[in-house]
Amino acid sequence: MTQVLRTAAELRALPRESLGFVPTMGALHEGHAALLRRSVQENPRTLLSVFVNPTQFGPAEDFSRYPRTFEADLALAEREKVDYLFAPLPEEIYPPGWRTFIEVEKLQEVLCGKYRPGHFRGVATVVHRLFQLVRPHKAYFGQKDLQQCVVLEKMVADLGLPVSIEICPTVREQDGLALSSRNRYLTAEEREQAPVIYRALLAAQEEKEVSLLLARARAMLAQVPAFELQYLEVRSLPNLEEISRVEGRAAIFVAGYFGKTRLIDNRIFKSA
Ligand code: PAJ
Repeated sequence: MTQVLRTAAELRALPRESLGFVPTMGALHEGHAALLRRSVQENPRTLLSVFVNPTQFGPAEDFSRYPRTFEADLALAEREKVDYLFAPLPEEIYPPGWRTFIEVEKLQEVLCGKYRPGHFRGVATVVHRLFQLVRPHKAYFGQKDLQQCVVLEKMVADLGLPVSIEICPTVREQDGLALSSRNRYLTAEEREQAPVIYRALLAAQEEKEVSLLLARARAMLAQVPAFELQYLEVRSLPNLEEISRVEGRAAIFVAGYFGKTRLIDNRIFKSA
């Protein structure tokens, strides 16, 4: 049975040796389930959090529209044998008068950060706050949000937080589309076209020269005019610097829209 917790006080009462932690915003799918499975395998107990974090949404973004599916989330947690589901009210996370935020300079400003100012400040702040409340031993994140992983790893390293960040591979549909809570907003036609994003990432994989590699990926994306590209970039890991050749650790990152639905994806290059 998964025990539902609502308050920081309930969390403080938990036994805490070797707790695995999977933070989410709910609307759980098989991508989240893969993180939970890993945590359940690797830790005596696992805590899942479901909190739609207001501070990581911009004023024009989909905070109020973000899907909230608590009963289905609880059922998935039960299915995966998760011990605790922490679903706090906003005031548990941000008590009235909260004024403290965490910023990871440079890393928060590029890629998604350029188009979603304040987003990674909100992510770093809420994850730090959750770490402080939950005090996990290991925390699990998806490569689907690679920039988020990079930002959080840097926060943990800089602040010396006693938690190990575990990154899990992106879970995809059979046709390559990365699972996302936002996929449900795609029309049937958009859903059919959406795998072009992954095909574009694959088209680029053998090429080392970044300009050629991007040209190939862009040509692939151009086959689907309904996909409105926001950015397509190759950057080094873990510093997210621009590079002209793929050498050492690097990844290709893409973001864009089908109608109002924003999708992102990425692929890490196999090192030579
Ligand atoms: P959310 O979008 O709910 O994602 C929760 C976790 O699931 C993240 O680590 C994300 O990378 C992972 N995930 C999502 N889709 C995935 C997929 N297809 N394959 C593998 N993992 C996937 O990311 C957030 O919430 C928030 O920013 C959060 C970290 C909870 C802070 O509010």
